[in-house]
Amino acid sequence: MTAKLGAKKGISFRPARTGEMPSIRALLRLYPEQLAQQNLPRVSSFLVATVGGRIVGCCALQIYSKRLAEVRSLAVHPDFQQRRIASQLVELCKQRARARGVKELFAVTSQTSFFGRAGFATFRREKMAMFFEVNSLPGKTYPEA
Ligand SMILES: CC(C)(COP(=O)(O)OP(=O)(O)OC[C@H]1O[C@@H](n2cnc3c(N)ncnc32)[C@H](O)[C@@H]1OP(=O)(O)O)[C@@H](O)C(=O)NCCC(=O)NCCS
Repeated sequence: MTAKLGAKKGISFRPARTGEMPSIRALLRLYPEQLAQQNLPRVSSFLVATVGGRIVGCCALQIYSKRLAEVRSLAVHPDFQQRRIASQLVELCKQRARARGVKELFAVTSQTSFFGRAGFATFRREKMAMFFEVNSLPGKTYPEA
């Protein structure tokens, strides 16, 4: 994984390491409205940006199949935003996806202009992703075998 991307600014990029989940959670907790705090991807799914050894940015690539993976849990500490850290993390996710043979990425996000700049669009620019909240089902009606 490249460490050169942000070398000039003292920013390094690498896969997250075992034991770094608390630092990643602390970063994500800064944005409770934008980012899920539950059911986070495992640490091996994360890429991080560091400055002086401190994690200042993170992003996960959650791979569901060879066809599809999600870019999620993208956050950059407020003191380090607008330095293209998020853009570079997303770029590294794309590279990781390509290396693993994944065909398509998606992101569920309120930051649609950011992801648009990063090349994300509605599926083939015509189809929308639609979601259903399973917990909204009224009662248990499915017949168990
Ligand atoms: C969204 C976020 C990750 C961007 O981080 P960042 O490191 O500041 O982003 P970058 O510096 O890579 O920004 C790249 C470009 O997007 C622009 N940009 C940054 N935040 C933007 C936003 N919220 N909406 C639109 N454009 C944005 C920048 O101006 C920059 O433009 P340029 O390419 O013309 O220079 C950061 O603001 C953040 O952590 N937000 C809170 C958590 C969040 O919303 N995460 C995304 C949900 S998955």
